[in-house]
Amino acid sequence: MAETGAETGAARPWSAVVLTLFPEMFPGPLGLSLAGKALAEGVWTLDAVDIRGYARDRHRTVDDTPFGGGAGMVMRPDVVSDAVAANHTPERRLIYPSPRGRVLDQALVRELAAGPGVTLVCGRYEGLDQRAIDAWSMEEVSVGDVVLSGGEPAALVMLDAVVRLLPGVTGKAESLAEESFETGLLEYPHYTRPQVWDGRTVPEVLVSGHHGRVAQWRREQAEAITRNRRPDLWARYVEKE
Ligand SMILES: C[S@@+](CC[C@H](N)C(=O)[O-])C[C@H]1O[C@@H](n2cnc3c(N)ncnc32)[C@H](O)[C@@H]1O
Repeated sequence: MAETGAETGAARPWSAVVLTLFPEMFPGPLGLSLAGKALAEGVWTLDAVDIRGYARDRHRTVDDTPFGGGAGMVMRPDVVSDAVAANHTPERRLIYPSPRGRVLDQALVRELAAGPGVTLVCGRYEGLDQRAIDAWSMEEVSVGDVVLSGGEPAALVMLDAVVRLLPGVTGKAESLAEESFETGLLEYPHYTRPQVWDGRTVPEVLVSGHHGRVAQWRREQAEAITRNRRPDLWARYVEKE
């Protein structure tokens, strides 16, 4: 039986398996900057698996026309299911990025980061045959009310959001704790040098050296921005407070 991190005392890397028709898209931007460094250091692992490798005919067919007619092609359940069976292990969450899914938010990102990893099944064309989704009880997760041409950009977004929360990936824990959504509010504005730029100054309180007043100003700004821009978040925040 495989040893877990808890048994050996050594933490296992967080693992992502991406099933895709375009494995060349990975790691893509996740190979750079903080995520790329963490990948190179083994904080997390990424396996991009070509679904076409599970096709059953010599033409390596992965899709077919929809029953009932209509435009576009549908990814075959047998091929997708074989790819899942060969690469997914049940301790990981099995997610189908899909515009019909629960919308990704910071709470779900935190949940995913706290677990051992994810398997992401990227759709193309009109998406996956419903039977493959049902047979594997895939969780559908959307990155917003837009239609992408494939699940890969959505998978990159999800992985980027999760990886930056893994221990040791982002410099200071406090910088994560204060960010948009973590407090239920959008974040306050930031300023840096020069103190006067193009005739614009920075708010006086930020150069006052008074930590209490700075904290209060930031809180007020975060509240005002949230109230004006995201009444939905504001309502939830007020209810919680
Ligand atoms: C062209 S889309 C299919 C759209 C689908 N026919 C519909 O109308 O809902 C192809 C694939 O892109 C991915 N995708 C598209 N929009 C997405 C979104 N907002 N969030 C996550 N994945 C998305 C899904 O994996 C989907 O199977």
